Amino acid sequence: MAAIKLESCTFALFGALGDLALRKLIPALYQLDRAGLLHDDTRILALAREAGEPQRHLAAIDQALRLHVPAKELEEGALARFQARLHYLTMDFLQADNYLALAELAGHDQLIAYFATPASVYGGICANLAAVGLAERCRVVLEKPIGHDLASSRAVNDAVAQVFAENRVYRIDHYLGKETVQNLIALRFANSLFETQWNQNHISHVEITVAEKVGIEGRWGYFDQAGQLRDMIQNHLLQLLCLIAMDPPSDLSADSIRDEKVKVLKALEPISAEQLGQRVVRGQYVAGSSDGRPVPGYLEEENSNTQSDTETFVALRADIRNWRWAGVPFYLRTGKRMPQKLSQIVIHFKAPPHYIFAPEQRQLIGNKLIIRLQPDEGIALQVLTKDQGLDKGMQLRSGPLQLSFSDTYRSARIPDAYERLLLEVMRGNQNLFVRKDEIEYAWQWCDQLIAGWKQLGEAPKPYTAGSWGPMASVALITRDGRSWYGDL
Ligand code: BG6
Repeated sequence: MAAIKLESCTFALFGALGDLALRKLIPALYQLDRAGLLHDDTRILALAREAGEPQRHLAAIDQALRLHVPAKELEEGALARFQARLHYLTMDFLQADNYLALAELAGHDQLIAYFATPASVYGGICANLAAVGLAERCRVVLEKPIGHDLASSRAVNDAVAQVFAENRVYRIDHYLGKETVQNLIALRFANSLFETQWNQNHISHVEITVAEKVGIEGRWGYFDQAGQLRDMIQNHLLQLLCLIAMDPPSDLSADSIRDEKVKVLKALEPISAEQLGQRVVRGQYVAGSSDGRPVPGYLEEENSNTQSDTETFVALRADIRNWRWAGVPFYLRTGKRMPQKLSQIVIHFKAPPHYIFAPEQRQLIGNKLIIRLQPDEGIALQVLTKDQGLDKGMQLRSGPLQLSFSDTYRSARIPDAYERLLLEVMRGNQNLFVRKDEIEYAWQWCDQLIAGWKQLGEAPKPYTAGSWGPMASVALITRDGRSWYGDL
């Protein structure tokens, strides 16, 4: 591999013993190293509050790495090289004098500071990096969630902006690092076939589903403050919507792409409290089953507060007020404890203007483009053909023209989203990262939904763990004469 050659850098991972770092970031750095992409001199500084022998913490990191990287990808040579790059430093991130040791370790090359910490300390870390002279050669990477509404996200972004210009700030939305999500850009803008059809003349509606099989599992404290709207819609699903709905950018530069995404977010039609009942469904799972075993409801999970009315499911209809999308609803749906893990976008094309086949087959009409983000990454275009056989006449059959990434590129492993994102930070390429104004417009749109819910004071609708959400989410789409793809 290694056609890309990266400059050497110091990668400072704040919050290195946290769940995200151990489960995703350290394995992603290891994979970059294993692929020969890291410069020989690149060092990784694992920074965390935990005191004690560095060796003990490094051993914990090594253990996590072996747990989270598939066994066949653990190569002793690569592991030894990776471990040699790792250093551990105990730090209180809000204590300025703790940064002197960091400055010494950081050397003089490019510094990448990755904040896998609560956003409340981002501003403090930035000020302290500046105080020891590290800010000038530093890029900062901010994990989500950045705030819990527009005002708090602005406060975090403003504190970071006191030290860092926007072109050195990399805000993570890990969905943008997924291979198939990046493929949306290629699919849409490298093929004229789709782009000519990509508007309200030809598309009737769009579905975006991000379903998770897991429940809350040990994250109740965080999740209960957020809920599914803040945790998933505000970022991942609105980013997917933007990539589907945006106009072609003039080039692939970060700002050209982000300018187009911002236009979409600005064009999202607000949903008033009066419209919420028709346009948005909030749900919360109750006890049910997953993979055939019983699982508790949200209010019975470990450390739960039995009075919580936080939603674990949201389905909504979003409308985009512009020339391209007028009258084309975007149905978004996301939830925990669904029957399967599935992220997929379905573009429903309109029926041909004049129908000449058997009346009972009319419901088959209308092509669908299915973009599967996970699992089984791939793209399928449902087309209608004639059923084969002398006995069949002009009977129609709907079947896929299919591109399965794992079958087609069998030898190539699909990298985890974080590998791509870390690689792009090291290259100084911002186009897979979210600009400040994108985050803010997304919050603005979500804030009005949250305010509406508060005004109405309605509890989320219960749904059984292991189901596709409350019945009201089916009604949301059938009311418009449609159904969720595959009648999931
Ligand atoms: C995170 C959310 O951003 O995305 C989690 O905070 C969620 O609640 C996760 O589980 C889903 O990511 P993926 O890549 O597993 O679909």
